[in-house]
Amino acid sequence: MKMEDEIRFVRNNIFRTDEMLAAENKILGEFSPEVSEEVLDYHKSLPGYSVTPLINLANLARRIGVDSIMVKDESKRFQLNAFKVLGSSFALAKYILGDSETIRYQDAVEKGCNISTLVSATDGNHGYSLAHVANLYQLSSKIFMPKGTVPERAERIRRLRADVEVTEYNYDQCVEIAKLFAESNGGLFVQDTALESDTEMEKRIPLSIMQGYTTILQEIINSCPDYSPSHIFLQCGVGSFAGALAAYISNNERLHSKIVCVEPNKADCFFLSAQKKDGFPSSVLGDMDSIMAGLCCGVPSVQAWPILRRSASWFVSCSDSVTRRGMRIFANPLPGDTRIVSGESGAVTMGLLYTILTDKKYENIKTELGLDINSRVLLISTEGDTDPFGFHANIWE
Ligand SMILES: Cc1ncc(COP(=O)(O)O)c(C=O)c1O
Repeated sequence: MKMEDEIRFVRNNIFRTDEMLAAENKILGEFSPEVSEEVLDYHKSLPGYSVTPLINLANLARRIGVDSIMVKDESKRFQLNAFKVLGSSFALAKYILGDSETIRYQDAVEKGCNISTLVSATDGNHGYSLAHVANLYQLSSKIFMPKGTVPERAERIRRLRADVEVTEYNYDQCVEIAKLFAESNGGLFVQDTALESDTEMEKRIPLSIMQGYTTILQEIINSCPDYSPSHIFLQCGVGSFAGALAAYISNNERLHSKIVCVEPNKADCFFLSAQKKDGFPSSVLGDMDSIMAGLCCGVPSVQAWPILRRSASWFVSCSDSVTRRGMRIFANPLPGDTRIVSGESGAVTMGLLYTILTDKKYENIKTELGLDINSRVLLISTEGDTDPFGFHANIWE
């Protein structure tokens, strides 16, 4: 039986007070071009660094009626199958080296971390990257995962010697549990989201994690200085990834891309926040049972929300059938296009783009987004087959 697609979108028409505008300016100021260059220099100092591929799906673009579709394949990031390590590795080095003029891996290792256990909550990729970072720095890691976690996602983190606990709680509750655990056991809480309750000091690590993600765009700009996407589609869980890239775009004079935030309909806290229009973030509570595990977060990061409230043009909420389509398109390209292995949270933007451009039912969204033959679309495939069994089930069944 064909699953009915569900795509809902809302234009950014959010009201903001002067206080909100000031908060937006403040956080955007943390994403200057100089910071992104510093972050990339740090990543280059890590063992095994290489630029991830930027793939031109020229035949697909021609088929569905846009000028170009470029895809940054983050499954190739340090052989870790997702982009996440860009954030956790930079955040730990920054924590160790503080305001040193240069942040380099070797300097951070030599100085050493004053805390021996890294603690975090994850729905998969962040925890995996953090366990890897702990190994790089010869530290241990304690990772909390939500109810319903696919066993393979927990096992792959355990294989990196992390102590993994799959809890009875959802992702956002796991974040609170991990924070408390770190406080009462002397661990370092390295979380990829900032909470309302965080102190300014506690917000530093999630901020460095976001800054770490800007390497994705910095690499693109360095290798293709003339490339300027008209549309960029960004997946949102807690919004740190989308917020970081949106901040980068806002602060780069040459980039004028329209930003589309994309979420699963079971965890569409940014979509709901935009729909409410009052400038305050909304949350989704309870179990969030989407196959887009990495995006199943119900509480927007308080650092990402002001950026997206300012910079995103649209917020879109999608059913799982949309990302399954994206996974299949990436895995079965048109002749001449490159095959990309993209997981559930990586492929939703492709599924969305294809559906909007080919299904007459969504003609209104296509028009609203201004997607046409002149559009240069940038997608980030943020993960590969991080759940290999699920990956095949999703593209075969
Ligand atoms: C593969 C993948 N894509 C996108 C995201 C979204 O990132 P964020 O939670 O910062 O919004 C995640 C988060 O874990 C992820 O794992």
